[in-house]
Amino acid sequence: MTTAASAPETPARRYQLFMNGKFCDAKSGKTFETIFPHDRSVQAVVAEGDKADIEDAVVAARAAYDGGWGTTLPSERARLLLRMADLIEERAQDLAQLETLDVGMPAFLATGMVMSAADVFRYWAGWATKIHGFTSPSMQPGDYLGYTLREPLGVVGGITPWNGPLIMATWKTAPALACGNTVVLKPAEHTPMTAMELARIAADAGLPEGVFNVVPGFGPTAGAALAQHPDVNKIAFTGEYVTGRLVVQMSTSNLKTVTLELGGKSPHIIFDDVDLDAAVANALFGLYTNTGQICSAGTRLLVQDSIYDRFLDRFVERSKQIKVGNPLDFATRMGPLVSEEQLRKVERYVQIGQREGARLLCGGGQPKDPELSKGFYHEPTIFADVSNQMQIAQEEIFGPVGSVIRFTDEDDAVRIGNDVIYGLAAGIQTRDVKRAHRLAKRLQAGTVWINTWHKIEPNSPFGGYKLSGYGRENGPTMIEHLTRLKQVWVDLNEFTMDLFAM
Ligand code: NAI
Ligand code: MG
Repeated sequence: MTTAASAPETPARRYQLFMNGKFCDAKSGKTFETIFPHDRSVQAVVAEGDKADIEDAVVAARAAYDGGWGTTLPSERARLLLRMADLIEERAQDLAQLETLDVGMPAFLATGMVMSAADVFRYWAGWATKIHGFTSPSMQPGDYLGYTLREPLGVVGGITPWNGPLIMATWKTAPALACGNTVVLKPAEHTPMTAMELARIAADAGLPEGVFNVVPGFGPTAGAALAQHPDVNKIAFTGEYVTGRLVVQMSTSNLKTVTLELGGKSPHIIFDDVDLDAAVANALFGLYTNTGQICSAGTRLLVQDSIYDRFLDRFVERSKQIKVGNPLDFATRMGPLVSEEQLRKVERYVQIGQREGARLLCGGGQPKDPELSKGFYHEPTIFADVSNQMQIAQEEIFGPVGSVIRFTDEDDAVRIGNDVIYGLAAGIQTRDVKRAHRLAKRLQAGTVWINTWHKIEPNSPFGGYKLSGYGRENGPTMIEHLTRLKQVWVDLNEFTMDLFAM
């Protein structure tokens, strides 16, 4: 793996669409480029799928479903998923490097994400042999057998964002396949490379043709075609809530199932009984991981009055020390933002924060280092004295910008914490175990972290309240979103009741 301070000097890679077990060009012949956010170098030329290609991919996925995937032996599905997990692990270094080159994700983090992608496949391989219905005894007189068949939905469409491309692709794919569905994946246009590598892994693992298809392309064309498609049974979407709403509207064509994992403005509540260094370390981790481009980032820091100034001193000091730089370097802790558009968005919010009267304590612009001048870099940035009504407290910035808000007591913290359109995650730092659990009940968020952050595992449900979406990904309850039940009743009585006998 490259650890040097520049991108490897390979000519740009080429990626095609993957459908029906084969790689092919887009019908239109169009392509688009993906660049390394560190220096804007072109990393890949990618086939640009649109409506016509989605159509073909859905036909392939339906044929594979009808052709037997839906009724494959569960143990065979498990074997294939385990094989994919092994291949992800074997190719981990390459996958991590591609993720870094596409997203600008620091190498240390990309490596960890790839390893968790393998874990996701292993977790769902385990479930493949344990997905079944139940028997339901009759509540009425007579001898009847009632049981349910748990069936796959059919064709599942996955639409993913750019911030964690491989892990998002695995969340959309592994559980759907384990449940017996076939998949059409539309990765984010900024970061298609690792999804295309996952296609290669599926082919190499021996997944039957058409079971997993990947169509890179843009949202309003390829993404919308998938969301609208009358022969797609479910859409699993991750992205911003405005797009999520559109997806729901488009899904009504055939009333397909939709699960949505949308944005967040998660409160990180820090009480005055904490170990200050540990609390600051957690706050840094929650805010700056992946340059703040994580839906569950702890971007609203609610700090109790009595430690407010002490916390801020330490938090600012540590923020200034963060090693921002080339994400290919394993020592780098914060890389560039994904795109110029995202950098401009962050800069716009910094201006808004200043206009709103928040106190800018550090950062606020691009780093001075000339080596970083071509990239989409932004310094770790902290606003203090933020009021919860400000835009920088209410809106998802998706960058390394923290908004620090003062609170007085538990009720105040809960009131401010919940006063937002989102409800993806929330965190509490305290040594008071009773208070921690009281707050865990009162906070309106799909995940509550106590003295930790970003703990997300394949076995635990992840999703939102409010505009952070609905449905849960990961964990056994996800099976409910990827299968349906059929009730079967059998009359076991020797004599059939004849209600219409004259
Ligand atoms: P987005 O929500 O537009 O894109 C997410 C996915 O949806 C991509 O694959 C995209 O191609 C697809 N998409 C876009 N328009 C679509 C449509 N009309 N029909 C079907 N699919 C469509 O997010 P985008 O534009 O990448 O980022 C915009 C902002 O959203 C970012 O600045 C960030 O603040 C936020 N964001 C939040 C994420 C989260 O996980 N909460 C993830 C990515 C972005
Ligand atoms: Mg968009």
